[in-house]
Amino acid sequence: MTESTTGTLTNPLHANLCDILFTEEEIARRTSELGLQISKDYEGKNLVLVGILRGALIFLSDLSRSITVPHSWDMVGASSYHGGTGSSGRVQITKDVEVDLRDKHVLVVEDIYDSGRTLSAICDLLMVHRPLSVKVCTLLYKEKPERAAKTPIDYFGFRIKDKFVVGYGLDYEEMYRNLRMIGVLDPSIYS
Ligand code: IMP
Ligand code: MG
Repeated sequence: MTESTTGTLTNPLHANLCDILFTEEEIARRTSELGLQISKDYEGKNLVLVGILRGALIFLSDLSRSITVPHSWDMVGASSYHGGTGSSGRVQITKDVEVDLRDKHVLVVEDIYDSGRTLSAICDLLMVHRPLSVKVCTLLYKEKPERAAKTPIDYFGFRIKDKFVVGYGLDYEEMYRNLRMIGVLDPSIYS
């Protein structure tokens, strides 16, 4: 499927999507709404956004600019996929936070809530740093009949079906992250 152009050239990876779920404009609109809500909820609080590498990088940068309360951010690293389209079941922490969280309210920023293992492991890790609170904002909330690890989700952008999606930070084998929209990867690419 072909899709909108980025500047004047079309990204050839668009051809590997079988469905476009959210356009650049739809993502921007929803991110602004989330930013507004978060700005109200954290008014007067010492906020730090903690993004999960690498998928949340683009969402974090847009969300941060939609939030009007002063805040800092940091990144943590977690990896559970090791390539492919299914979670390995083990979450490896590859990078811890560097900012001091002790007097801060933490908002974890994630690209997608899938099995829940990554968010659960990251929230456990962050609690060790003794922040004032830990909440979670994920761009995508995958609908699943059951989840390996349940984590309370405080904010999410869009609910999606249980399909493998790419773009706007989400990857398949480290590619597709730079697509401006989010789409379903054609299963012929990985099966
Ligand atoms: P979880 O630990 O199973 O919830 O998986 C979370 C991580 O798996 C996310 O941070 C993503 O990097 C990756 N992931 C889960 N579902 C997808 C998908 O549909 N496309 C791309 N990456 C995904
Ligand atoms: Mg990934």
